[in-house]
Order: sequence, then structure tokens, then C-alpha cells
Amino acid sequence: MVAALRGRDFLTLRDFSGDEILEILKLAKKVKGSRKMFRDALDGKGVAMIFEKPSTRTRISFEMAVSELGGTPIYLRPMEMQLKRGESLADTARVLSRYVSLIMARVYEYETLVELARWAEIPVVNGLSNLNHPLQTLADLLTIWERFGRLKGVKVAWVGDGNNVCNSLLIGAAKLGLNVAVATPRGYEPNKEFVDEALRETEKNGSRIEFYEDPVEAVSDADVVMTDTFVSMGMEAEAEERLRVFLPRYQVTADLMRHAKPDAIFMHPLPAHRGQEVSAEVIDGERSAVWDQAENRLHTSKALLLMLLGS
Ligand code: CP
Ligand code: NVA
Repeated sequence: MVAALRGRDFLTLRDFSGDEILEILKLAKKVKGSRKMFRDALDGKGVAMIFEKPSTRTRISFEMAVSELGGTPIYLRPMEMQLKRGESLADTARVLSRYVSLIMARVYEYETLVELARWAEIPVVNGLSNLNHPLQTLADLLTIWERFGRLKGVKVAWVGDGNNVCNSLLIGAAKLGLNVAVATPRGYEPNKEFVDEALRETEKNGSRIEFYEDPVEAVSDADVVMTDTFVSMGMEAEAEERLRVFLPRYQVTADLMRHAKPDAIFMHPLPAHRGQEVSAEVIDGERSAVWDQAENRLHTSKALLLMLLGS
């Protein structure tokens, strides 16, 4: 199974089977046991990390993941590369392939990743795009697995914007047999292709994906309540309109959490906006799993790197 991931791109969870995703999570659990495990696995290997957008977790967890495995992370901003002066993605990808062993990129348009992957001779990993955020889903699934001791049958309620993080969650959850209830305002539903694919997956394994406008209905009996910013990176011009649409109804408050199971946890990919998508009481309360979730970005990234590059 490990060998099956070697050399592949990680652009979308749609390209990976449930078993493959589970293998990554199992390895993540293992490497979480000791930060020094596999410390020479990427010896002599470089990883180029291209960031069109800001990042705290993705950048630092990935840099540490590469470093702890013995590789060399190289943080790159397109504005400081010849990309800024018009060098093509195709030429950039071909040149990077001669220096490093993997490209990770955080981009505005998903198509940028596809173009990089088309020309690169090395794996390309999606560090977030407008469409999806599969690295985040790996950490989310690991956190749920740790907290509940299982994945199958766990009910996740997604409240708020049907955004990039939600799109990836739907695929990962459906492939691993979790149930998801999504509550969004009309017009802010997740991507239709991702929804259709997730629904096809649920037909195979008997899990459920449901869509609501009412957050209370979605959260009812949930094990996990998850949300994300109402204004993703690149959507700043819509901020005022979005806050008007989402608030106050879609804020995860202690009141809303009361409709979930008594031992339900709260999750958020971060960065969080207290008083917008979540109240301070919930994110800073004892049911919040956000710090474990953020930590798990490191362990899941290490597992993924080992599987894509390890020998
Ligand atoms: N969750 C996440 O991707 O955070 P950053 O934007 O800080 O990388
Ligand atoms: N949906 C958010 C996620 C940040 C990690 C964004 O794209 O800005």
C-alpha cells in the first residue's frame, strides 16, 4: 500500500481510495509517537513550497515535517520568483524538478496546481486552493479518529460556508464512512462536483451526507461540529456581504452546541474569527479540539511525505 502512493500528486482526495487515505492516517498515528522517527527518510531531498497566499499552519507544519524527516524545505513566494516577471508555470515546474523532490503549493486557482503537476516530474502537493484543502482533511480525520477511536459512523456537522475546506472534508469523510450534515445559507453550498462524488461514495459504504439551511437541524446529534471562516482568502471584497448573510444564524455558539451530542467536539481549521463563525466560549471551551487539530497538520504531513517520497 505504501508503495502505491510513491511518486503521486496529492491535489485532491478524489484521486485516493478510502484505503489509501486510511494508510496515511495510520502512518501519521505512528510518526506522532516520536518526532525523531524516520529522521533520515528524506536525506538529501529538497521540497519547494510555493505560497501565493499567507499561511501559518501549513507553512510551518510542512517545513517542520520536511526538516524532521531529514530533508530541506525551501519557502518560496511567487512575487520573489521569476514567475512574477512572466516565467511560465510549466518552465518553473520543469526547473524545480531538477533541484528538488517535491513541490507543495498554496494557490488561488486549483488550475495552477494542475498546470504545475502537468509539467513537474516530481509529486505536487496541494497546500490549499480556492477549491479544496486536502491536507487539512487529513489532520481533521486523524483528530476525529483519536477522539472517538473510530471514523466510521461518526457524524460531522459542517456549519457556515460550503468552502474549500468543506469540499475536501466531504470527499474524505464519504470515503471513510463518516456521516456529514452540512448547513449553509442558500448560494453558499459546497462545490457540486465534490458533492456528487461524495454522494456516490456514500452509496458504496452506506454512510450519509445531508444538506440543510438550518444549522440546528445539521448539528442535531452530531459528534463533531466544524466550521471555518466566512471570508476565505481571496474573498475579501465580499466580506461585508458575507457577514450580513452568515451572521448571526451560522455562528457556532454554546447554544448551537447544545443540539449536538453531549460529548461532541468543536473543530476549526484556523485561523478563527471569534464573534464571527464561532463564539470565544466555544473555541476556547473544553469541547474545542482545535489545538490537537492544528498539531495533527504536522504528523499527517510527515506521513504523506513519507508515502510520496520515502523508500
Ligand atoms: N489551516 C490552515 O491551512 O492554516 P494556515 O492558513 O495558517 O496554513
Ligand atoms: N477557507 C479558508 C481556510 C484557511 C485555512 C481560506 O481559504 O482562507
